Amino acid sequence: MDFKMEVAGLLSKATELSLEDALSTVEIPANKTMGDFAFPCFRLAKVFRKAPPMIAQEVAEKLDKPAFIEDIQVVGAYINFFVKKGIYAQEILSKVLSEKENYGKSDIGLGKTVVIDYSSPNIAKPFHVGHLRSTVIGNAIYKIYEALGYHCEGVNHLGDWGTQFGKLIVAYRNWGSKEAVESQGIQELMRIYVKFHDEAEKNPALDDEARLWFVKMQEGDDEALALWKWFYDISIKEFERVYKMLGVKFDAYTGESFYNDKMAPVVKELKEKNILKESEGAMIVDLEHKNMAPCLIIRKDGGTLYATRDITAALYRKKTYNFDKCIYLTALDQNLHFAQWFEVIHLMGYDWYKDLIHVPFGLVSLDSGKLSTRHGNVILMEDLLNQAIGETKKIIEEKNPSLENKEEVAKQVGIGAVIFNDLYNGRIKDVVFSWERMLNFDGETGPYVQYTHARACSILKRAGEVKLDDIHYDALSDEASLDICKLFEAYPEKIKDAANKLEPSIVTRHLVAIAQAFNKFYHDNPILNSEEDVRQARLAVVVAVKTVMKEGLRLLGIDAPEQM
Ligand code: ARG
Repeated sequence: MDFKMEVAGLLSKATELSLEDALSTVEIPANKTMGDFAFPCFRLAKVFRKAPPMIAQEVAEKLDKPAFIEDIQVVGAYINFFVKKGIYAQEILSKVLSEKENYGKSDIGLGKTVVIDYSSPNIAKPFHVGHLRSTVIGNAIYKIYEALGYHCEGVNHLGDWGTQFGKLIVAYRNWGSKEAVESQGIQELMRIYVKFHDEAEKNPALDDEARLWFVKMQEGDDEALALWKWFYDISIKEFERVYKMLGVKFDAYTGESFYNDKMAPVVKELKEKNILKESEGAMIVDLEHKNMAPCLIIRKDGGTLYATRDITAALYRKKTYNFDKCIYLTALDQNLHFAQWFEVIHLMGYDWYKDLIHVPFGLVSLDSGKLSTRHGNVILMEDLLNQAIGETKKIIEEKNPSLENKEEVAKQVGIGAVIFNDLYNGRIKDVVFSWERMLNFDGETGPYVQYTHARACSILKRAGEVKLDDIHYDALSDEASLDICKLFEAYPEKIKDAANKLEPSIVTRHLVAIAQAFNKFYHDNPILNSEEDVRQARLAVVVAVKTVMKEGLRLLGIDAPEQM
């Protein structure tokens, strides 16, 4: 039973509004004394030619009160509806309890495919906290779409091709050693790469040499490719360590290099379609009609570019996955890049350019300003995650030193805190790291939500057997129970909304609201020591909260330990 719909149905009958109009007018008042649903009569003033408060009176008199409504009150221009609490609780809770972790899922995406391009770090460069956001937001979007029945393909579009690898090869040949790279990994690759930049400033011939090496890579030269492959393997090993910590997986590691032999036909197609133009020796697509700088496709020296590979990858993905949407997660400083090459796909005559979606997000910062890789003073993701785990361990030692499997819990909570912090605000906002705030068990944080879940688990453990087949829902007449039910009722819509807006924070915030409502419920209501009917009904609420919270956290990519 959809209560809002039922209320809209009553109003539609009494006012001659269409059901849709009535439905879109029904509000859920923030202030509970105004009812569970409210209907403002302002919009009817034109039709009825009367003052809204009078209309409210007249309409209210015409309404028949169905069994699920406790009371109807007119306040000014509003008609306020109060739902019978027991019936409402029964409707919502029995659904949650029977659907369990499937509550909130749907099959609206059945038969549709969504490609999600996320994380996509650059090899031979440190996996720094700037990539955290793409990884974490992309992973959540993947899980949210999956919960709605979509088939998802998670793609890691590694930055593993381009002139920078020519530079790295030159750097390695001049200043590198096998031993150092083997023992230091990416850090050593980064050191020689930075050295290349310093040296090339004094000696521009190095840049030409680097370009030549990249051309060799493109042509399949053995020596060039062997070095490149070595750098690649070293990098992937480090990345995978971090992915494992974060619990993130991909369906494909098709990075930029994957498209090396697939670009020529695409360039040919651009030529045949008369989109490609020569400009100062380079090949470009003019985008003046969109007031954008041209999209560079081939460099003067014959080298292809980031955009060339993105265009080729999009065509490949359309052919391979026949996606309904292809979603790209990067920081907002790449807005122009995506707008440019999306338009190239449009000019090529592909209608599905509309299904390419760039999902930008804000920067990550510590107190020390923007993070960059260029100068080497970066915060590595692995260090950050280890620090989160360490800080969490300190808190556990202090609060619950006898906890079993402390190590595992510290990992789940520490990393959960980092992910939660990233997904808490709208993604376009910058993320600031503050251990104190992120790990505050009483704030709107990952640990707070996880702790609430663990509290629910511990109540259930102490309760022993919970019978869910004969619950006296009338026992749930308190405000806190009702609040929890309302949040449950809204939950499936929140997941859809998060998918439509590509905004996991909608789920994050809803989980915080459920946690807060549950803590109030727990505070206001004795559970284990109540008389049998009340006890069972309240335990049913606890079971439902535990289930929804665990699944909600899973959608965000966060574990839900049973004890902490
Ligand atoms: N490697 C790029 C970077 O680190 C992100 C790639 C995003 N995906 C894409 N298809 N362009 O900035």
